[in-house]
Amino acid sequence: MGTSSRPVRAPGPTRPRPTTPAGALAQAHRIAEAVDQAWHTAAASDRAEIPLSVVAALALRTPEDADERAWVAAQLMDTDDGGLLGFLRATWQLYGRVRPDLFPRVAPLAAPWFTDPAPDGDLLRAVRRVVHAALRAGLHELLDAARYDVDLFGPLLSVLRTRGARVARGQYYTPPDLADLLARLGGTVPAAGELVFEPTAGTGGLLRAAAQAIRDAGGDPRTIRWVALDLDELALAVLAINVIIWDLGPRVLIAHGDALSDDWQARALGERAEAIALARDVQRAASALALLQRLDRAEGDLP
Ligand SMILES: C[S@@+](CC[C@H](N)C(=O)[O-])C[C@H]1O[C@@H](n2cnc3c(N)ncnc32)[C@H](O)[C@@H]1O
Repeated sequence: MGTSSRPVRAPGPTRPRPTTPAGALAQAHRIAEAVDQAWHTAAASDRAEIPLSVVAALALRTPEDADERAWVAAQLMDTDDGGLLGFLRATWQLYGRVRPDLFPRVAPLAAPWFTDPAPDGDLLRAVRRVVHAALRAGLHELLDAARYDVDLFGPLLSVLRTRGARVARGQYYTPPDLADLLARLGGTVPAAGELVFEPTAGTGGLLRAAAQAIRDAGGDPRTIRWVALDLDELALAVLAINVIIWDLGPRVLIAHGDALSDDWQARALGERAEAIALARDVQRAASALALLQRLDRAEGDLP
């Protein structure tokens, strides 16, 4: 997606914009319903990671500036299959560069766009429906008005899974108002450098509430050491997106495993170290290639 022309406000109906935390939650549910309907109308598939990945990419690439948001929305609504695939690939590559430490967790969301053969036209048609549904239901407006107040992905993951799957996984997320109350119950909030551990994190609703309590007390969630654990890989994948949306900072360990076992932490630290080393190697190789290309051009300029 290019950014050469000046952003202009997209024409069309005004999209909903929440003004209270309750309104934000209601809007997150509306977005979830709209995306679920769009996905299941267009694709007879229970691959929840696809619509989650699309909504995650839209959320990660939501500009702060209102005119830019309108421009991005207009571009995304208008682009062809190649443009959509390019947007998704570029977004996950960007995530890998910016947060290699969390990349092992978002891998289920990134992988569908890098398959060989590439995703087919039917899948990309369904993706387009999801993009339109999420933007029309006010995804950009929700993130702009209330990103710290709401877990966009809790309701979405819940509607995308069947009731049976939700029951089997114990997938019932604490409502945000209750989470906010719990985070403030003791009267004190974690201080800079302290550890916050959530052993059954789900999509991270309790971490969001803790971060808000810290902000309200004048602190900065970016100074906290966050550790989140869960058995549910997709919930953890979207938690790794929420980490960015909620601005939880650089010291976050998201582990996949069983809270009743004792091997999850070593495994998560190993995966993280490997992902960071790999990203460094890729970066070095890209820098070396760029240098070679510059030398090559310079040699061509020699008389
Ligand atoms: C009821 S949800 C609560 C999520 C979150 N704490 C909240 O309040 O919104 C329970 C979560 O615990 C996870 N879970 C259940 N047993 C677990 C275990 N032994 N180890 C890690 N996670 C577990 C489930 O996958 C699910 O995401």
